[in-house]
Amino acid sequence: MTAPLTVALLGGGTVGASVAQLLGEQAEELAARIGRPIVLTGVAVRNPDKARPGVPADLITTDVAALAASGADIVVEVIGGIEPAKTLIETAITNGSSVVTANKALLAAHGASLHALAEKHGVDLFYEAAVAGAIPLLRPLRESLAGDTVRRVLGIVNGTTNFILSKMYNDGADYATVLKQAQDLGYAEADPTADVEGFDSAAKAAILAGLAFHTDVTSDDVYREGMSTVSADDIAAARAMGMVIKLLAIAELSEDNSGVIVRVHPAMIPVTHPLASVRDAFNAVFVEAEAAGDVMFYGRGAGGHPTASSVLGDVVVAARNRVAGYVDHSHSTYADLKVLTIGDAQTSYYLNLQVADEPGVLAAIANEFAKHEVSIQTVLQDGHGNSANLVITTHHATDKQLSETVEGLRGLSAVREVSGVMRVEGRAN
Ligand code: NAP
Ligand code: HSE
Repeated sequence: MTAPLTVALLGGGTVGASVAQLLGEQAEELAARIGRPIVLTGVAVRNPDKARPGVPADLITTDVAALAASGADIVVEVIGGIEPAKTLIETAITNGSSVVTANKALLAAHGASLHALAEKHGVDLFYEAAVAGAIPLLRPLRESLAGDTVRRVLGIVNGTTNFILSKMYNDGADYATVLKQAQDLGYAEADPTADVEGFDSAAKAAILAGLAFHTDVTSDDVYREGMSTVSADDIAAARAMGMVIKLLAIAELSEDNSGVIVRVHPAMIPVTHPLASVRDAFNAVFVEAEAAGDVMFYGRGAGGHPTASSVLGDVVVAARNRVAGYVDHSHSTYADLKVLTIGDAQTSYYLNLQVADEPGVLAAIANEFAKHEVSIQTVLQDGHGNSANLVITTHHATDKQLSETVEGLRGLSAVREVSGVMRVEGRAN
């Protein structure tokens, strides 16, 4: 073994503190795996007085710009957000450092320019921890499935919302209480709106879509609905139909292969689907590939140590590449597919309607579905007084057909309210 490789750590919060701690605890093992020792040269933070167990106090600095520009072999960015993270990563790359980051928001917004800069300067840019925390997912998509054609990626990629929805579904827990628990456990983003309104999942969906379909996809290309639209009635209806509700990130090829559709929204899935049993802060990603068939990745999607495991995996690969004088060139966007709108997505739907319980009402409702060529799969009517609650599920239709149907239903005098509409995924047409 010769001179150590240097690692500069930008950020010493939930993930950064775990990275520093594990780097220290596993120094000998990591050196053996890389072929050279690695040393931490600094940990940049905002507040130097905060207690950070496991982080060597003498390495703490507030001069983040200097640390990023220090020319360390590897710069690890775990600050989060767009700025100053973007400028710091650009500085690191232009100073010849390979970069490892967990920053999905940044990668989903500026991945293309950061990859181009890394390529220009002959350094690695890795971000395994950015999607689904501890789960080895991006490297398998980029490398192990590189010989296959991926058709669809369906994932639970946000630990906070999965934690909240699981507790609401299984324990009837109250939203605000469980959100606070998710924050205390270190799952939630600094601003939890990013989690509950689906921005975090949308960034991850963009990254997954880019890798699966060799196309540059940004978060702006992703259709997004958060979990705040999920009502107690939707949860009760899901349970009655043998379904669970998950916030799903879906990236798929259109049926005619002309483009990709990337969407994040709450969806019902049957309790028998492998994703239905993914509870609490766990994440899972279900990949449908032409030759491999269905492949599922499962594990912890958030938290300090789980996320640090992925960060350190990237650090080891980047360090080995340095030792070997090799740079990873596996990032590709050659397919350059068109990103289609949500209107082109095809799936099944659940609708909850409050209607007048009178002769001819069902016929008028069925006619509205027929007008837009949406085929009804099941109807459940629960009458009380002169009103009835109708729960309808459909066969596959496009989102555009379904929206037009809902608009038509809202215009019918017999329909008092369309109180719930949700996509149903993961079952046969
Ligand atoms: P965090 O706990 O808020 O930590 C952020 C760290 O960055 C803190 O140490 C903070 O300093 C430091 N920082 C912020 N602004 C800075 C600045 N201008 N200069 C220097 N230091 C600055 O965040 P986190 O949960 O560790 O997340 C970090 C990244 O990992 C984010 O991109 C996040 O999306 C991603 N990620 C997180 C998880 C997770 O489970 N938490 C999982 C996967 C990916 P102070 O400590 O002094 O405030
Ligand atoms: N806030 C994110 C989550 C952290 O809850 O999944 C992991 O990216």
